[in-house]
Amino acid sequence: MGLKHVQKTYEDYGKSDPMYAVLSGDKDLQGNKWDVEAFFETGVAEIADAIGYLQQIDAMPEANRALDFGCGVGRLSQALCTHFATVVGVDISYSMVECATAHNKFEKRCDYKVNTMDDLSQFEDASFDFVYSNISLQHSPPEAAAKYIAEFFRILRPGGIALFQVPSGKRHEPGSIGAKIYSLKRGPLRRFWKRIRGKPPVEIHYVHQSLVEEIIANSGGKLLHSRQFGSQHRSRVSMQYCAVAL
Ligand SMILES: C[S@@+](CC[C@H](N)C(=O)[O-])C[C@H]1O[C@@H](n2cnc3c(N)ncnc32)[C@H](O)[C@@H]1O
Repeated sequence: MGLKHVQKTYEDYGKSDPMYAVLSGDKDLQGNKWDVEAFFETGVAEIADAIGYLQQIDAMPEANRALDFGCGVGRLSQALCTHFATVVGVDISYSMVECATAHNKFEKRCDYKVNTMDDLSQFEDASFDFVYSNISLQHSPPEAAAKYIAEFFRILRPGGIALFQVPSGKRHEPGSIGAKIYSLKRGPLRRFWKRIRGKPPVEIHYVHQSLVEEIIANSGGKLLHSRQFGSQHRSRVSMQYCAVAL
């Protein structure tokens, strides 16, 4: 499913410029120029916004165990520790997880793990109260993103909440010609185009909103609310979904 490329990209990026690999909006911060405190403050603000949103839509989970999927260097996992008793951050990249572990201020309350599989089988059924993910699912091909979303509802306890971001774009039926062209354009061609311009070969994918809603419904979840969230692009709309595990 093409996760080897994703892993290699973030393995390299995590070794050379991990904080910029996570937040690359300001080119002046390229080359390890992020101020560490300012970087982690962005996570505190994002999680405060998430908690406010969950309260507003009456979807606050139990404050026990949370998972941060695609945790990078722990920007959001660390902020989640203020609201949850224990937090697990999981990422496909060893170098990212190494960096996250080096910046962990919560000792055993925050645990970072590597997962290179296209599922979350290292986590038990019904073992989390909350799953959060932002700007991470979009880096995996849609088939893998769909599998991870389905897994969120297996590892959540009944009543647990998933709050995750994934961009929405044109709908492609799995296995269709459209899906094959999509994979070529968004995978190898995009990586090649980035490489010749000297950029890290980061892939950005999307899953159409209606498909995400079907995945949630078919995986034992119920969509509570969705909203546009994060930076928007011409070909895709960044969406955040809040769903409860049944
Ligand atoms: C842009 S960073 C975002 C990190 C973090 N979510 C944040 O907002 O601070 C994307 C992260 O997702 C991770 N990632 C990409 N694909 C993944 C996958 N299939 N499973 C787990 N992590 C993944 C990358 O290694 C990288 O650390």
